[in-house]
Amino acid sequence: MLVQMNRHIATLIAAALLVSAAGCGESLNSYFVYSDQTEALMQEAQNGFPAKDGSKALAGAKQLLDDRFGDPQSLNAWSMLPIDFGGITGRVSETPDTSVIKGLTLQFDEEVSFDEDEALILQFVTGAAARTVVKVDKWSAEEGKATLSDSDTLEAAVVAGDVVVLNGGIVLQHGRGLYMRHCSHCHGTSGDGNGPTAEYLVPRPRDYRQGVFKFTSTNDRAKISRDDLHRVLQNGIPGTYMPSFVPMLNEQDQHAVVEYVRFLTMRGEFEKKIAAELSPDFSKDALASQLEAGDSKDDVRDYLREFLAEDMPDSLEFVSEDLASSWTTADTDEAVITPDISRVPDTPESRRLGRELYLSKGINCADCHGIAGKGDGPQSTIFEKNPVTQELYDSPGLHDVWDNLNQPRDLTRGIYRGGRRPVDLFRRIHAGVKGSRMPSFKILKHEQIWHIVNYVLSIPFEIEPGHAPGVNAPAEATTTASL
Ligand code: HEC
Ligand code: HEC
Repeated sequence: MLVQMNRHIATLIAAALLVSAAGCGESLNSYFVYSDQTEALMQEAQNGFPAKDGSKALAGAKQLLDDRFGDPQSLNAWSMLPIDFGGITGRVSETPDTSVIKGLTLQFDEEVSFDEDEALILQFVTGAAARTVVKVDKWSAEEGKATLSDSDTLEAAVVAGDVVVLNGGIVLQHGRGLYMRHCSHCHGTSGDGNGPTAEYLVPRPRDYRQGVFKFTSTNDRAKISRDDLHRVLQNGIPGTYMPSFVPMLNEQDQHAVVEYVRFLTMRGEFEKKIAAELSPDFSKDALASQLEAGDSKDDVRDYLREFLAEDMPDSLEFVSEDLASSWTTADTDEAVITPDISRVPDTPESRRLGRELYLSKGINCADCHGIAGKGDGPQSTIFEKNPVTQELYDSPGLHDVWDNLNQPRDLTRGIYRGGRRPVDLFRRIHAGVKGSRMPSFKILKHEQIWHIVNYVLSIPFEIEPGHAPGVNAPAEATTTASL
């Protein structure tokens, strides 16, 4: 079993990227933290078991995570994940006939541009030399021949067909540098939303590790797409501290940062899922109750050993495939919410229909957003229970999956965090705001959603029938008038 697991890991990990530790932002903590769920596991579940008496070592949650994602100074590229790590893949095209290898015949998937002044970094992905890194001093595209640097000798049994990657990970490495400089003081080195500036901000910076993003063009079950992440970088999030990075980051930079945010997010989700596999039986709490029930600590340890050796490999495979497929799906056309009719003309009649739907029993936007859209509906004053601890929150109002107070938006202000184009609002209503209490209304006909969009966009300027307070009346006056 164990042998099988190790082989499995070997095929999953493409390459460890040797990311240099230089650059700004390094004064911040440059290590990834583990989540509370991981820290709540019993020690052996966190750290595994070292090799002993002929039995092989068993990786615990922390090593399983580190093997796949590395740390900020040396990120791991895990080929299973849909992340553009950067680099050009290729294959060894002739098995070298010497035991000490000074040159290789290679075939790459893309054209390699070679600059005399800069050595290329070649890394083996598969075969006996997997994870070995060598420098290429000369590259002849015509002959497909690479000359290795004098300082490097390669003695592994390289054979034709071995997969290599050239300058692997440059995109992610670039993304990491930009992220540390521009994002980490808010979003944290690990993407936990806990950078040094974070505690002063309302709303708080996103904790990526849940894998949930609020403002997406994708359906209510899908992840955020790359396009959505680009839009967030371009527009920022109006009405929050999330800035726009347009003049600062060019297209290429944005691409690199987006890939790095995806990397941190997938790392967080992977960690969360591994901890969830182990928690039921191997958290500190579970251990305490097993001891109370009369089991010995050795019993629990033996059971954990068995679990890590027998069950973990399958779980890992399942978790990785699930991650890979959900992130891949998010970038497909099918995941994007596309209205089946174009926007209904924004007439008084459409707004009226929209308002009816807004107030109607079945839809009841007003339950949260209030009759006048001020965000003060009955739901905004209830006391909610924390779904995990089942304890009431200290403050009244709605909370999001990150446990932050997250009240219904005041729609009279006309500030839309997920974008103000009609189609953005359409998608917001269709998918809801993921991670918040704003639900998906995908059951509605698209025509109905457009009427609601027309109404919502009219709210800041609305004149209540029979109570016309005037277009520029203070918001309070509007509220009183419409209640
Ligand atoms: C000054 C603090 C700050 C900085 C700097 C910052 N952010 Fe944010 N970011 C936020 C806040 C606050 C939110 C949450 C807004 C909300 O919940 O409505 C956020 C949200 C996000 C989201 C979530 C979008 C969604 O739909 O859920 C992404 C992605 C994001 N930021 C990426 C970045 C990246 C990448 C950088 C650096 C290039 C960055 N942020 C820099 C404060 C910041
Ligand atoms: C159960 C409560 C609830 C209901 C019902 C609800 N919302 Fe929301 N809505 C919220 C919350 C909470 C937010 C703030 C989410 C955030 O930005 O974190 C929100 C945000 C919004 C936004 C702002 C989107 C943006 O991009 O900033 C709009 C627009 C909106 N809701 C419209 C509606 C409409 C229209 C309906 C009915 C079809 C509705 N909501 C029903 C809770 C609700």
